[in-house]
Amino acid sequence: MLITGASRGLGLALARHYAGAGWRVIACTRADTPPPDENGLEWRRLDVASPASIAELAAGLAGTPLDLVINNAGIRGDVDGLATLDADDFIEVMRVNALAPLLVARALLPNLRAGGGQIIANISSRAGSIAEGMIGDDDGDYAYRCSKAALNMATAKLALDLKPDCITVLALHPGWVRTDMGGIEAEIPVSDSAAALQGLIDRATLADSGSFQAFDGRPIAW
Ligand SMILES: NC(=O)c1ccc[n+]([C@@H]2O[C@H](COP(=O)([O-])OP(=O)(O)OC[C@H]3O[C@@H](n4cnc5c(N)ncnc54)[C@H](OP(=O)(O)O)[C@@H]3O)[C@@H](O)[C@H]2O)c1
Repeated sequence: MLITGASRGLGLALARHYAGAGWRVIACTRADTPPPDENGLEWRRLDVASPASIAELAAGLAGTPLDLVINNAGIRGDVDGLATLDADDFIEVMRVNALAPLLVARALLPNLRAGGGQIIANISSRAGSIAEGMIGDDDGDYAYRCSKAALNMATAKLALDLKPDCITVLALHPGWVRTDMGGIEAEIPVSDSAAALQGLIDRATLADSGSFQAFDGRPIAW
């Protein structure tokens, strides 16, 4: 399996969980040096905001079958609402959270076609749900919400397009997780979210493709 944004937070926790379960884990990080003492993981450099970096990763993995790709790398951008909405910030959040998962999926399609399980898991957020995203959550993170809504559409469209290849595509909400992004007041320890997401991904079949689920298996309305 391959995961993006594995330097810390949920990405690192997922990488550790999969490695602990005996998977070969290709953990991608944009930093030149991966975190120390992570010997069970195979590190590759990937800045998901850079199409050249994505192409370089894919070239280096030519011929390597992949059962699972987790698009986890994400950024939040400005959170202070309409008044501080900044064009460059907005575009960067869209680039990382919505466009990059599509480019990564496309670049690694040959690897997924050669793999066994064939799943693309996009780490989305309930904040991107038009139906549920503002229930009990009035944060002014326009860019983040729009990017995750776009990622949800990308998930649904990819699911349709990749059905003939029997590739399952999921949008997953990890919960409010204690990471740098989620903050120390978040409800869910990162290891618990990673374990729950791993369970969901491992149980997923083609019948689940194009769905949007929370870490606890609850379907989320788009
Ligand atoms: N935490 C939550 O409560 C929560 C809730 C809903 C959804 N999510 C989603 O869960 C995912 C993981 O979030 P998190 O809480 O673990 O966030 P985090 O602690 O801020 O970690 C974000 C990760 O993404 C990486 N990243 C950012 N930009 C990148 C780029 N251009 N190229 C490669 N990697 C990049 C970071 O790498 P660096 O170390 O190099 O910066 C880091 O590894 C995100 O998609 C997020 O939107 C989180």
